[in-house]
Amino acid sequence: GLRVGTAVAGGGHHEEQDYPDPFFHDHAYRGVLAKHFNSLTPENQLKWEFVHPERHKYNFAAADAIVNFARKNGQTVRGHTLLWHSQNPEWLTEGDFSRKELRAILREHIFTVVGRYRGKIHQWDVANEIIDDNGNLRTEENIWLRELGPEIIADAFRWAHQADPKAKLFLNDYGAEGINARSDAYLRLAKELRAKGVPVHGFAVQAHLSMDYPFPSDMAANLKRFQDAGFETAVTELDVRMTLPEGGEPTPEQLKTQADYHRWALEACLSVKGCKSFTVWGTTNRYSWVPVFFPNEGHATIFWDDFRPKPAYHALRDTL
Ligand code: XIL
Repeated sequence: GLRVGTAVAGGGHHEEQDYPDPFFHDHAYRGVLAKHFNSLTPENQLKWEFVHPERHKYNFAAADAIVNFARKNGQTVRGHTLLWHSQNPEWLTEGDFSRKELRAILREHIFTVVGRYRGKIHQWDVANEIIDDNGNLRTEENIWLRELGPEIIADAFRWAHQADPKAKLFLNDYGAEGINARSDAYLRLAKELRAKGVPVHGFAVQAHLSMDYPFPSDMAANLKRFQDAGFETAVTELDVRMTLPEGGEPTPEQLKTQADYHRWALEACLSVKGCKSFTVWGTTNRYSWVPVFFPNEGHATIFWDDFRPKPAYHALRDTL
């Protein structure tokens, strides 16, 4: 019953991207998506700046194509994301809107986007990265929290639920894999929301891991406490990056450690009943966000650039 997914590259790394949109142009890549995965997450194509580039204009072309591809291949789709501080269009962040207008803009966006894929997207990351390292709401950075206050979180979940009553609605974040201030705050928030009758169904850990840090060995225990509190869990963006030696190629030891991290993450998910979705964030280094965002780091994905499987791929296969 586990859904094993990947992020669908495209719409991507802005100026740094020096290749045409892989989903539309790389035939071999599409083959890999269809062959190895039964869940897909648009990596960027449902984010505000791509799907809602102007106030009165939506651009669904890429997301539609991914959803249709998934249906053709018997795959499910995860929706990412509705309320986030990042990758918002300028018309929104630079606009001069009243509170009332902003609230109406978010409501319309959620009804339009979630409604369009009603019955076709089985999990939505409704709120993304809304809590910081210390367990506080990211009120300064997040336009919605800053302008509308924390109650907007409940509204976003309620609107998404009305737009697609069957979709499972998630809180999603990084750095919350283990038991720490951030995941503690999520557990509190999830319970608080539910106590108010807000349709929050799950908590997801992104799992952008770095081999410069030990694996969060309490990941299973963390997922378990959400499970015990009645929430689904998911691993939504797993990649395991490393500081590359001179020459840029990982050593055999690094590849082995990377395989271990992947296995442990999958084992953590498999150890709790409610973890039914496990997604890696990309396929090859060439299309990965890691080399663009983390200087000197890379090779965080499970395939080589020619799509041969790396040890991390085999570790996942052997664990399933
Ligand atoms: C990243 C994408 O992979 C990049 O292509 C994009 O330029 C920036 O965003 N947490 C998230 C994801 O929730 O949406 C981010 O994806 C990675 C970190």
